[in-house]
Amino acid sequence: MLKNKIVFITGASAGIGEACAYAFAKEGANLILTARRLDRLQEIKEEIEDKFSVNVLAEKLDISNRDEVISVIKNLGEQWMNIDILVNNAGLGRGLNKLHEDDPNGWDEMIDTNVKGLLIVTKEVVKTMVRRKRGHVINIGSIAGHQAYPGGSVYCATKFAVRAISDSLRIEMLEHNIKVSSIDPGMVETEFSEVRFYGDKEKAKNVYKGLKPLSAEDIAETVIFCATRPKHVNINEIIIMPSVQATAMVAHRE
Ligand SMILES: NC(=O)c1ccc[n+]([C@@H]2O[C@H](COP(=O)([O-])OP(=O)(O)OC[C@H]3O[C@@H](n4cnc5c(N)ncnc54)[C@H](OP(=O)(O)O)[C@@H]3O)[C@@H](O)[C@H]2O)c1
Repeated sequence: MLKNKIVFITGASAGIGEACAYAFAKEGANLILTARRLDRLQEIKEEIEDKFSVNVLAEKLDISNRDEVISVIKNLGEQWMNIDILVNNAGLGRGLNKLHEDDPNGWDEMIDTNVKGLLIVTKEVVKTMVRRKRGHVINIGSIAGHQAYPGGSVYCATKFAVRAISDSLRIEMLEHNIKVSSIDPGMVETEFSEVRFYGDKEKAKNVYKGLKPLSAEDIAETVIFCATRPKHVNINEIIIMPSVQATAMVAHRE
């Protein structure tokens, strides 16, 4: 079903995006992998092309740079421009501080990436899907888009925004034969917490202390599930958590 399809993934240099790249390649899809760290993308491209018989395009792309997004997508070239599936995965959290003690620079990064970046990538890719009357947008949201928690006002706000964008877009796309899905995970062990705590590995490790979190592969498997439903079926939204996590803030630790 995914063989020879073209899948565009943002934030494919690590974590969930990287796992999605391998999962789609295993299904025979050709991949446009994007992120800021081109060296990592090149390594992933080489390994995937070695292992699976698919084509991979690695493109350096900072989704918070609007001009760069427009230019990269516009210049994809004939072989790559007919994108079938967009996985809007790139995103980050910065800090876990109370609002009145927080650094506004982190707010800019989160809003510019998680919201404005996702919006411009979606606009540029969906335009081409609308012309072809086919496509599927899969957004990686978060449990933080359903439940606010202390220290998460801006991150949660960005993920609530992603949820609203998914819901509006799904309605707009009905007449264009384009599906919109949102996958909203709880705790997934990736580089996410390390980025959130500005490289503090100890603090990042503690997030997952005493419990088994989801892996990036668990989410990639769910993305593939959404992408392989029959034409008449759409998965609107999936909330996926580790078995020992019940809400954004409540988890059982041994
Ligand atoms: N881990 C969790 O617990 C969890 C839970 C719920 C939702 N999520 C969401 O899942 C998504 C993926 O996160 P992850 O857990 O896989 O974290 P990760 O391991 O830190 O990966 C994040 C990816 O996003 C990319 N990225 C960050 N800023 C970018 C920008 N401005 N432009 C382009 N790419 C950018 C990074 O690549 P470069 O640094 O190379 O650009 C990296 O590939 C995020 O949207 C996150 O909010 C994560």
